[in-house]
Amino acid sequence: MSKLIIEGSHPLKGELEIHGAKNSALPLLAATILCHGQSCLHNCPALSDVEVSVQILRYLGCQAERQKKSLLLSADSISRYDIPDHLMREMRSSIVFLGAILARMGKARLSLPGGCELGPRPIDLHLKALRQMGVVIDESHGYLDCTTPHGLQGAPIALLFPSVGATENIMLAAVLAKGVTIITNAAREPEIVDLANFLNSCGAKITGAGEGTVTIEGVERLQGVEHRIIPDRIAAATYLAAAAVTGGCLELKHVETQHLGQILPMFEEAGCTVVAHRHTVRLQAPERLQPIKMVRTMPYPGFPTDAQAPVMAMSATARGTSVFVENIFECRYKHVGELSRMGANIKVEGRVAVVEGVFRLSGARVEAPDLRGGAALVVAGVGADGVTELSGLRHIDRGYESIEQTLSTVGAVIKRI
Ligand code: UD1
Repeated sequence: MSKLIIEGSHPLKGELEIHGAKNSALPLLAATILCHGQSCLHNCPALSDVEVSVQILRYLGCQAERQKKSLLLSADSISRYDIPDHLMREMRSSIVFLGAILARMGKARLSLPGGCELGPRPIDLHLKALRQMGVVIDESHGYLDCTTPHGLQGAPIALLFPSVGATENIMLAAVLAKGVTIITNAAREPEIVDLANFLNSCGAKITGAGEGTVTIEGVERLQGVEHRIIPDRIAAATYLAAAAVTGGCLELKHVETQHLGQILPMFEEAGCTVVAHRHTVRLQAPERLQPIKMVRTMPYPGFPTDAQAPVMAMSATARGTSVFVENIFECRYKHVGELSRMGANIKVEGRVAVVEGVFRLSGARVEAPDLRGGAALVVAGVGADGVTELSGLRHIDRGYESIEQTLSTVGAVIKRI
């Protein structure tokens, strides 16, 4: 079992390039199923979740080949319409393949994703929407058996919550459906816009992505294209938190600053000097961080739930009290217990976490409870006194390209053993 050994308290200094967004790469990989000919995704991060998606594509009969930071993909030889249980369990978000497989093959068989580290992860919104589009779904023995006896039909779909995955699944199913689909209360995340941009380049007719109402006019055929994946805004937030907690000075390159709208003000509130241009962000940390009065996670353009844990790790050593309210997932405070082992003073009551800043955290033996909780422990570790021994790296590798190498290049003392 590999571990990260982190010797803390070395200020981060220098420049980092931010890799492509995991949460864009996954639906984009599913979207390539819809295309004839070859698609090429540039800036595709080398993450274990991307690897699982590639395994799913290959299982389905698609071709996938990595060339440095790009993935070349072709679904011309697709032959299957099911995803085996072990691949569904590897990555809960593989449910986003459902809409794409249905649109391409007219049927799909997937095992149910079930619960995950963040609590129960229902897919009722996905299934209700697909049923509205003419999909007949039989849920039995832990599997979803889906057919489209009359083909996929465009439909008006009002989402009860702006679910990212449901919006993506509907878009993937709707681009090749008959007629027009109008999603109201759609998710507005940048990853939705990235997916729409790719699909539109392939010949789809999607308008309104990034707004609350997305309209998709079904087309007959899509043709693969080249596309550059947007930068990962959560990786950017994590590395900024790591710089801030060490009293460092870091410049991020290859970011999309407009996607960091609710994130950068939190660092300013914490006393950091932030200079942002379109594709770069420079952060200079103060001698001691200030608390953040209130961080409420919300659907985009609100503060992202995925950045909650790394920013909490940062505020654990602020001069005063910070409050977090988690509005998206039920079990998203699993990092709190591990941060407490490092000396953090955090109390959780339901959705609310109250963080009383301490002067310093101290290195300890801790375990990543989930992807972003793991990232929070890396942030805590680089800022702490002494050595942190962090296990559970399989979670972190899902979303950060070789986090230890990235941080080492800017002065962190961190190695994987
Ligand atoms: C995506 C992101 C994840 C991020 C989350 C919220 C990917 C691969 N993952 O996850 O990193 O944390 O958005 O920004 O892009 N819900 C239902 N029924 C449904 C679907 C969702 O009740 O059918 C609930 C969920 O339980 C959760 C909330 O809606 O409480 C948000 O979920 P959703 O936006 O769907 O998140 P994901 O797409 O799973």
